[in-house]
Amino acid sequence: MRSLSDMLADSKIFANREVLSPHFTPHKLIFREKQINDIEKSLAPSLKGDRGRNLFVYGKTGAGKTSCIKYVIEEVKGIPNTRARISYINCRIYNSRFRVLNKIIGDHMPTYAKRGYGAVDLYEKLTSWIEEDNKILVAVLDEVDLVKDLDDLIYTLTRINSDIKAGGVTLIGISNKVSFKDELDPRSLSTLYETELVFAPYYATELYAILKDRVSAGFKKDVVEDEVLHFIAATSAKEGGDARFSLKILTKAGELAEEKENPKVTMKEAQEAAKLAENEIVYDVISTLPEHQKIVLYAVAMLTQSGGSYKKLTDGVDTYLFSGEVYHRYKSLTEGVHKEAKSERWYRKYLSELEMQGLIASYESGKGIRGHTKLIKLLYPPKKMCDLLEKEIFGKGTEEPVPEKEAE
Ligand SMILES: Nc1ncnc2c1ncn2[C@@H]1O[C@H](COP(=O)(O)OP(=O)(O)O)[C@@H](O)[C@H]1O
Ligand SMILES: [Mg+2]
Repeated sequence: MRSLSDMLADSKIFANREVLSPHFTPHKLIFREKQINDIEKSLAPSLKGDRGRNLFVYGKTGAGKTSCIKYVIEEVKGIPNTRARISYINCRIYNSRFRVLNKIIGDHMPTYAKRGYGAVDLYEKLTSWIEEDNKILVAVLDEVDLVKDLDDLIYTLTRINSDIKAGGVTLIGISNKVSFKDELDPRSLSTLYETELVFAPYYATELYAILKDRVSAGFKKDVVEDEVLHFIAATSAKEGGDARFSLKILTKAGELAEEKENPKVTMKEAQEAAKLAENEIVYDVISTLPEHQKIVLYAVAMLTQSGGSYKKLTDGVDTYLFSGEVYHRYKSLTEGVHKEAKSERWYRKYLSELEMQGLIASYESGKGIRGHTKLIKLLYPPKKMCDLLEKEIFGKGTEEPVPEKEAE
């Protein structure tokens, strides 16, 4: 056990914890010059006072989207005499049209925002603020797929452009969900996707360079060996090229070394850290799934976990479930939470979404097994999944924030 005075003493491992935090925006984003340049190009008209084309940015988690956007926003802040006003909105927090409008107003008219107006007042206030001196509002909607009434939000924000004579609104939408396009209403789609920019996952060599760079700022000299960085980079490349995941493993490995009072971060800590980080990431993924997908996943986890009367296939190592039986369980679970089950068409969409997230795998059974059916395999330990999902599905409801005034 380390004493309190030990813990407060200077770390032998870390030099600067801040640069390892997930909220830290690096001053230099390697391998993303082109993307940064594309974002700048797309913002240029707005900076000159014209309404530019809307931009949609997408790519997997940890591909550097948020960091690049924030980097460009910082750059823009240094430009004098521009009519552009930027709002960066994290839609994980501001997840409804009302909240987004309120956030934008709060960014630019802080005294007005606190007064508890309804959506119509906010809309009118925003419109007249834009119009008064031909401003261009650039609304950056990060993780835009998490907005509950997204079609309404996009409609409202773009309607400003037809309601006013001067100035305008330009949208930059960002999503970690590569399949997001398929879910959008065609009108929202054509609005948001006027131009698009893809962030590919990082390769192991790129992750290695990103880590190397961060180690030199975040850790004491010679504490982290190259072998450790190669291992973390390779592990994260396999997990989808996620730089955040890499940094998480690195930080955890450092913490483990510190706990053990090791002078160095070794492969042992890196391997342990990789396991811990993976669990956390899965938790993040699960907690942002739409409710019906959570219930489908819960059905998969329950059936995998229980011996039960359900027939399943096993090859001695893995368990495979019949898609029809999972649907059946999903339906009874929805009743339990007083929700209406979605049709099988939706259910199949949910399955492919869960598969894209790497939570399940599915296989066509081929002929012979009940004609032709889909088989489903859970990719994480069922017990853990069940516990997590139980909390998510049944434990939460009461934590929903109190609805705000949302007059039309
Ligand atoms: N090119 C890069 N150079 C340095 N650090 C990066 C780079 N790309 C991502 N990161 C780091 O990885 C983390 C995740 O990146 P982020 O921009 O949040 O990804 P996304 O928004 O695509 O999920 C950030 O904390 C950032 O520090
Ligand atoms: Mg992001």
